[in-house]
Amino acid sequence: MKTQLPLETQVDQNGRYGRFGGRFVPETLMYALNELESAFREAIADPAFHEELRTLLEEYSGRPTPLTYAQRLTEYVGGARLFLKREDLNHTGAHKINNTLGQALLAKRMGKKKLIAETGAGQHGVASATVAALLGMECKVFMGEEDVRRQQLNVFRMELLGAEVVPVRSGTRTLKDATSEAIRHWVTHVEDTFYMIGSVVGPHPYPEMVRTFQRVIGDEARAQFLYREHRLPDHVVACVGGGSNAIGMFAAFLADRDVQLHGVEAAGHGLSTGRHAATLSKGKPGVLHGSFSYLLQDEHGQVIPAHSISAGLDYPGVGPEHAHLKESGRVRYTSVTDEEALDAVRLLCRTEGILPALESAHAVAEAVRLARTLPREQTVLICLSGRGDKDVETIRAEEAKRR
Ligand SMILES: Cc1ncc(COP(=O)(O)O)c(C=O)c1O
Repeated sequence: MKTQLPLETQVDQNGRYGRFGGRFVPETLMYALNELESAFREAIADPAFHEELRTLLEEYSGRPTPLTYAQRLTEYVGGARLFLKREDLNHTGAHKINNTLGQALLAKRMGKKKLIAETGAGQHGVASATVAALLGMECKVFMGEEDVRRQQLNVFRMELLGAEVVPVRSGTRTLKDATSEAIRHWVTHVEDTFYMIGSVVGPHPYPEMVRTFQRVIGDEARAQFLYREHRLPDHVVACVGGGSNAIGMFAAFLADRDVQLHGVEAAGHGLSTGRHAATLSKGKPGVLHGSFSYLLQDEHGQVIPAHSISAGLDYPGVGPEHAHLKESGRVRYTSVTDEEALDAVRLLCRTEGILPALESAHAVAEAVRLARTLPREQTVLICLSGRGDKDVETIRAEEAKRR
């Protein structure tokens, strides 16, 4: 099966998804964003770019990733049949590599030699460090100090790959602060530096560009599901941090009105505790990192720190297209707590022999909850965005607390 880049998107010429999105940045970045947008449009209109990216996705990352029928999980749940789109089987262990391959090829076309990135769970950082090594480019990764502590394995991987990891000590020392620092660095090094954003967030054209590079997930999954089941899934479930694996998956199904789409945010300790990352459930519209979207904020518009056991979902913002899909009602957004996600990790390990990333476990938990309410003839497709090797220490510490 051929992997392909689609050109279709919902964004208008101002980078708006309905009332969300746009470009709220200092004047110094406007030129860089215009330059990036032109280069992106040129690249996706060029068959040679598609061919180069397709080759790397197939020969380097291992695409297409399989669609797995989760038979023992389905039997355990006793409702709808459950399927997994295996982004965990990508090189480097998560969907993030799809996007970094695309952006790094773009950076090369633009003649940029230096890459910078922000990372939370470390998966985008590892993917960035990996493609930088592959293409012989310099790479600097900004990471909150708290995430450096939580994701030591990924910090070491990035360093092995030759990247410099810059610990960020401001704010809550997590992804929001790492992103702010990366933007600050970009403002002063914009001539020779390409900023690789890891999710469908940030100023236009980032949400559109990242969606384009991640849509391969949904296009493959849709074709694989049709081939195997001779029909489309009834439900599609994906976790939402910034929202890139979810948009990548949903994009292929948005026009299929009978397919119900579910985005799962992190409810952390619980929605009523204030210690969560459920931006679409509990946030309000506002501006963060150059884009207008839902945002966790207090009554004065100050950003409230997000919490999730999963470093990749621990972000107080969300991609603008998700905000639009929420308000239009096309996607249902829900949330899963830390405890529920940990239970889902154990469940998928024991029933299928698959250790999911804590982020992906949020999607598994919601899919199980949903499947229980549905008859056997129905099907639920889960985006398994990544594998859980990086989370083993966190899971072990939580198990110790439970005992
Ligand atoms: C495995 C995995 N899934 C999901 C996410 C969340 O990001 P997004 O919502 O952009 O897919 C991350 C982020 O680091 C991740 O590592």
